[in-house]
Amino acid sequence: MEPIKLLGNVLLLLSLLQLAASGHPQPGSHNNTKPHIVFIVADDLGWNDVGWHNPDVKTPVLDQLAHKGVIFNQSYVNYVCTPSRTAFMTGYFPYHVGSQHLVFRPDTPSAIPSNFTFLPQKLKELGYSTHMVGKWHLGFCNWKYTPTYRGFDSYYGYYCGAEDYYTHFRSNNKEGGIDFHDNKDPVTDQNGTYSAYLFSGRAVDIVNKHDQNIPLFLYLPFQNVHAPLEVPKRFEDMYINVQDENRRKLLGMVSALDEAVGNVTMAMKKMGLWDNTLVIFTTDNGGMIIQSGNNYPLRGGKTTLWEGGTRGVAFAHGKMLQKTGYTNNEMIHAVDWFPTILAAAGGTADPGIDGVSQLDTIVSGKPSPRTEFVYNIDNIFPTIQGAIRVGDYKLIEGFAGLPDGWYPPPNMTGSRPDNKDPISGTWLFNLKDDPTEHHNLADTMPDKLKEMRAKLDGYRKTLVPAINPKADPKSDPKNWGGVWSPGWC
Ligand SMILES: *[C@@H]1O[C@H](CO)[C@@H](O)[C@H](O)[C@H]1NC(C)=O
Ligand SMILES: *[C@@H]1O[C@H](CO)[C@@H](O)[C@H](O)[C@H]1NC(C)=O
Ligand SMILES: *[C@@H]1O[C@H](CO)[C@@H](O)[C@H](O)[C@H]1NC(C)=O
Ligand SMILES: *[C@@H]1O[C@H](CO)[C@@H](O)[C@H](O)[C@H]1NC(C)=O
Ligand SMILES: *[C@@H]1O[C@H](CO)[C@@H](O)[C@H](O)[C@H]1NC(C)=O
Ligand SMILES: *[C@@H]1O[C@H](CO)[C@@H](O)[C@H](O)[C@H]1NC(C)=O
Repeated sequence: MEPIKLLGNVLLLLSLLQLAASGHPQPGSHNNTKPHIVFIVADDLGWNDVGWHNPDVKTPVLDQLAHKGVIFNQSYVNYVCTPSRTAFMTGYFPYHVGSQHLVFRPDTPSAIPSNFTFLPQKLKELGYSTHMVGKWHLGFCNWKYTPTYRGFDSYYGYYCGAEDYYTHFRSNNKEGGIDFHDNKDPVTDQNGTYSAYLFSGRAVDIVNKHDQNIPLFLYLPFQNVHAPLEVPKRFEDMYINVQDENRRKLLGMVSALDEAVGNVTMAMKKMGLWDNTLVIFTTDNGGMIIQSGNNYPLRGGKTTLWEGGTRGVAFAHGKMLQKTGYTNNEMIHAVDWFPTILAAAGGTADPGIDGVSQLDTIVSGKPSPRTEFVYNIDNIFPTIQGAIRVGDYKLIEGFAGLPDGWYPPPNMTGSRPDNKDPISGTWLFNLKDDPTEHHNLADTMPDKLKEMRAKLDGYRKTLVPAINPKADPKSDPKNWGGVWSPGWC
């Protein structure tokens, strides 16, 4: 055996012994040596809308968690909400589930099929108490599709994609209804209270009542900072120097999210849970440029396959992380959180899922087991598209999404500032050399293009047709006491 290899083996043995001695969660261990896990998902939070990427943004709580944890530099998400949440909850790429086409509309009978096992269901098998506070957006036309029947011991939040932050009213054209439930009961008495207060308040309640001998899984998909642009004045006032009113509101919404997370972390510290907690924080997609979100210097934003829509802000924090205080540049995709969280909980995912565990990557900075991923594959107009990443290369074929371009903050023109590209085409980028997607190599690297196309065609063969049903008038909240409710599919 070569001396280097021998040394490597000795080091491995030592670190294994160290792991065993440090009381890391072992399968079958009694009481709670498993970590509490808080999985925080921000809505439409842009690359340039957090303090650790942009010093103008005031996110002291998140900055501290990020800087004392691990900041992810290449953590990818899907281009819009329902697909990303599919990835988080199932560990499958949306094009393998049927949720790759835009988002589930409130009035259509769309839902993740029942044969997919959700993350909290797996965590319950491992002894976790599982709670969800916030936005679902994975289908609700039948109770079996709701969080209550997909593994969450408790649920407090809204089923659809967006609503008013104060009235909790989701309109659908002219009509609409309240979209807010506490477990299975409609919540109709919170008109006027901003959702970040309600959601952090409920999360704090859950923490305060939690028996620390039982491992806790808290899924916190906040409403902030999705449109409509609404925020209590005191947060907007933190940005009086920002001239653009919409941008000022958006930034206030980011700071409200920051305070909400701070309240939850304070409660966990007070209750003695914090030292055994793993926090994962991610956005669901890039910032929505026309709603004042910002992804500069990345190209495009939410609803696009450009990096601005898909390279998400993310970090991990917790005492179980062995290497912290740095920016991790490994390739991670939204589908990976499912098996990563299960691994942190001492379990394993079912074979066949698309995600791979990144536990070693996030805990000790080991190379990612992932070398490629699918941004999306969709075959329905207007989003006929396919895009993949393989190593340093990215291929986009078809509709890349709008708006396209590089928008410095604030730039709300909605136009494509300095860009003459078509809206549908073929693009090949080397993201290592060109992370902002300025140089299309499709014409200059024909062999690479051919290789990438062959790869994409291979992936296309496994496409599951998109769930895309017509609206059903039975969904109308008028039929359900003015509340968006299950029971019509
Ligand atoms: C283990 O958990 C049980 C149930 O929560 C509790 O009653 C007991 O005191 C715990 N034991 C230790 C050593 O923490
Ligand atoms: C769920 O069922 C669909 C349709 O039969 C199938 O294509 C898919 O592979 C199944 N997925 C899982 C995770 O069982
Ligand atoms: C909320 O309260 C406002 C002011 O009283 C009222 O105009 C509005 O209709 C209420 N909205 C809902 C959804 O109850
Ligand atoms: C955080 O907690 C403080 C103290 O209870 C409260 O005043 C504030 O409104 C909370 N903020 C949020 C966003 O929940
Ligand atoms: C993060 O990614 C950017 C490319 O967008 C790169 O320039 C930078 O060096 C990366 N940071 C680290 C620490 O790898
Ligand atoms: C938006 O960007 C364009 C092109 O870069 C520039 O001409 C324009 O002044 C910008 N608008 C604002 C409001 O910054």
